[in-house]
Amino acid sequence: MSIQEQLESVRNNFLADIESFPTSQNEIENLKSKYLGRKGSVASLFSLLGQASETERPQIGQDLNNLKKELSSLFSSKIKESLSNLSSGNSSYKDFTLPGRSQQNGSIHILEKTMTEIKDIFKSIGFHISYGPEIDDEYHNFTALNVPEHHPARDMQDTFFINPETVLRSHTSNVQIHLMESTEPPLKFIVPGRVYRNETISYKSYCLFHQVEGIYINNNVSFAELKGCIEYFITQMFGQNKKMRFRPSFFPFTEPSAEVDIWDDERKQWMEILGCGMVDPSVISNVGYDPEQWKGYAFGMGVERIAMLKYKINDIRLFYNGDLRFLDQF
Ligand code: PHE
Repeated sequence: MSIQEQLESVRNNFLADIESFPTSQNEIENLKSKYLGRKGSVASLFSLLGQASETERPQIGQDLNNLKKELSSLFSSKIKESLSNLSSGNSSYKDFTLPGRSQQNGSIHILEKTMTEIKDIFKSIGFHISYGPEIDDEYHNFTALNVPEHHPARDMQDTFFINPETVLRSHTSNVQIHLMESTEPPLKFIVPGRVYRNETISYKSYCLFHQVEGIYINNNVSFAELKGCIEYFITQMFGQNKKMRFRPSFFPFTEPSAEVDIWDDERKQWMEILGCGMVDPSVISNVGYDPEQWKGYAFGMGVERIAMLKYKINDIRLFYNGDLRFLDQF
C-alpha cells in the first residue's frame, strides 16, 4: 500500500470510529491516542515519510499535516458536542475530576430552640399551649388589662398603632384576655409569640421580640405557687446555681407584681427577664369571671434575653440579622 493509500485508510477508519462516537471518558482518551497519540496511526504515517521519494515527499508531508489538522479539529468538535449533550443530560459522560459540590446543613435557629426548651419545661408541669393574634384591638392589649386610657404605655412612643383602635401587640398578655373570654376556668396555659415595641434599640431591646406568657386560674392560687413555678422554670432552664432575684414591681393587670432578674455573668449585672404577679381582680371581672371565686397568677418572659443569658449572646440584634457566622455556632 502506498503512503497515500495508507493515509486514506487511516482517515476512513477514523471517520468510522468517530461516527460511533464514544461517550465514556476512557473511550475518548483511547480513541485520541489511537490516532493522534505519540504512537498513534498518524505518527506512524509520519515515520514512513522517509521511504517516500524526494519528489513525492513535500506533497505527502503536506497531506499528512492536513490529515493531522483535520483529525484534531473533528476530534475537538466531537468533544464539544458530547459535553453539551452532557450538560443537557443526554449523555452518560461524567467528569470525575470536577470538584464535588459541598452540602451545607441547616440548623434550628437558636431562638426557636430556646422557645422549645421553655415550652417543654412548662408542659412538664401541666401547662397547655395556646396562641393569639399579633394584631389586636386596644381593648385586649390594654383596656381589659386594666391599662387606663391615658397610661404612658399606650403612647405612640411605645406601641405601634395601625389605627387608633388597632395595635401590633406590645405584649402577649392580650392572649390572657382571649383565653379567659373563651374558656371556662380553671385554666393553665402558656402563650409563646412575637411582640412589638417602638423602643430605643440597644443590646437588650429590639422593636420586635418574643415572649412566653403564662396564665393560671383556679379556686385557690397563691403567690407562693407563682414563685415556686418561676423558680422551677429557672432552675430547669439555667441549672441549680444561677443567681436570680424577685424584685417588687408594678403592672396594671397584676397585684402584687414582681420582676425577675438573672445575673449576667458576662456583663456582671442583673438582667430583667420577666414580669409576673397575681391577676388583678378587675381583670378577672373584665372577662366575666367571678373574682370572689377565681384567682390566678400570670407571667410574661422575654425569650431573647433568656437565650442571651443561657447561650452567652451579647447583642439581641444578632437574632435578627441572619448572619451565618452567628447562626452556625448553635
Ligand atoms: N406583659 C408584661 C410585659 O410585657 C409582663 C407581665 C405578664 C407581667 C403577665 C405580669 C403578668 O412586660
